[in-house]
Amino acid sequence: MNIWARKPVEELCADAAEGGKAAALPRSLGIFALTCIGVGSTVGAGIFVLTGSVAAEHAGPAVGACFLLASIACLLTALCYAELSSMIPVAGSAYSYTYATLGEAVAWTVGWCLMMEYLFSASLVAISWAGYAQSTLHQFGIELPAALMSAPFDARDGWHLYATGTLFNLPAVLVTGVCTLVLLGGLKTSTRINNVMVVSKIIAILVLIAVGLKYVEPVRWTPYVPANTGAFGAFGVSGVIQGTAILVFAYIGFDTVSTMGQETRNPQRAIPLSLMLGLAICAVLYLAVSFVITGMVPYKDLDVPDPMYLALDRAGPEVAWARLLVGFVAVVGLVSVLLVTLMGQVRIFYAMGRDRLLPAAFARVHEKTRVPHIGTLVTGVVSMIAAGLLPLNVLGDVISMGTLLAFGIVCGGLLVLRRTRPDLPRPFRAPGGIWVPLAGAGCCVGLMTTLPRIAWVGFLAWLIIGVVVYGNYGVRHSRLQVQAAQE
Ligand code: ALA
Repeated sequence: MNIWARKPVEELCADAAEGGKAAALPRSLGIFALTCIGVGSTVGAGIFVLTGSVAAEHAGPAVGACFLLASIACLLTALCYAELSSMIPVAGSAYSYTYATLGEAVAWTVGWCLMMEYLFSASLVAISWAGYAQSTLHQFGIELPAALMSAPFDARDGWHLYATGTLFNLPAVLVTGVCTLVLLGGLKTSTRINNVMVVSKIIAILVLIAVGLKYVEPVRWTPYVPANTGAFGAFGVSGVIQGTAILVFAYIGFDTVSTMGQETRNPQRAIPLSLMLGLAICAVLYLAVSFVITGMVPYKDLDVPDPMYLALDRAGPEVAWARLLVGFVAVVGLVSVLLVTLMGQVRIFYAMGRDRLLPAAFARVHEKTRVPHIGTLVTGVVSMIAAGLLPLNVLGDVISMGTLLAFGIVCGGLLVLRRTRPDLPRPFRAPGGIWVPLAGAGCCVGLMTTLPRIAWVGFLAWLIIGVVVYGNYGVRHSRLQVQAAQE
């Protein structure tokens, strides 16, 4: 048994090219749909919720600088993703790239981290959606029973668990269920719905920026970086650094594009292009929103769950229409994050099932809809359980931790493949030689160290469960191991 065995790039690509076979995924996505998948899964709770709390607690008006720094860290990783996805355009994203570069055990770890990124961020987004939906219903005088509006326990000080006296988060479960049903209907339906949601989300954010600009008072941007109050992360340079680590969450999802390699037309060109386009659109929107809302409202007042709504509320009754529009689009926009995040998770399950590190059922494709239906159902049910029962504030930092590790390994994997397979055709090559992957990996590790203790504990617990599952299932059924044993 060799847990470091690598799956040759040629074999990965051959698996993906199994054209008419029953388990093959049809290639139907073009650059527009792919870019919408990237933006759809990225622009969500991060910009709608975290912008306010990072400004109020960590960085003040410099929240824009945090977004810029986080976008640079993500750009370095995105360049590595782009090179790898142009060489290995298959389902499974970082998991598949790692299988080809660093071997099975590391690939399992990455797949396990991606599972945390996708499954749990889907749940987290569903929970944020429930919060927004609740305030929207409240405005229309509709109240749901409190016992059905939140998880049965929560964490105080980011650490101590306590019972909330409620049953579960019904709206979060329902919205996850509806998205699962849409995904089961087929990729075409899901991407069409996503395209509409993404375009309306971008329009609403542009409206906020255009309307808000009139109410900006530049004096609110000084001091740009408020003085540190004495604690690490409370304003000053350390506040900007911690704010950057937190806001990486807002960029999570740009990598979903690379999970769709096997369903893309001309993936060698379309995936790198859509990755970059998606990231650029998100970065520009995030920077513009943070400049506008910190110019509209004193940063200290922004510590609310719906900072964009608050900024327009303060602007006065003449922009009530924009406020309504932003509230509505936040609700719709979060659904698109949820939909596409679940979609990405299904493709990771598909790739791991194809390699038999997970049961083969995950790689089965429905005859009519051409969707990996069993993987979709499992993804939906697990996310529904997590969304109904887990508290929001425990999830965010743990997800960032898993994502940063997976990103860091992707950068490292690219370095390895440059050395071990310099001969492979690279339709896209990240510029800057070894410096881009090195800087990308450095940024990811650096940002991981700034995350709080709860994130490390939750993440290590997740990794231990992963090692147990791999030891008891993956390593025994792995196609690569079985093939090697037969030879
Ligand atoms: N980037 C996604 C969001 O902000 C996860 O909701």
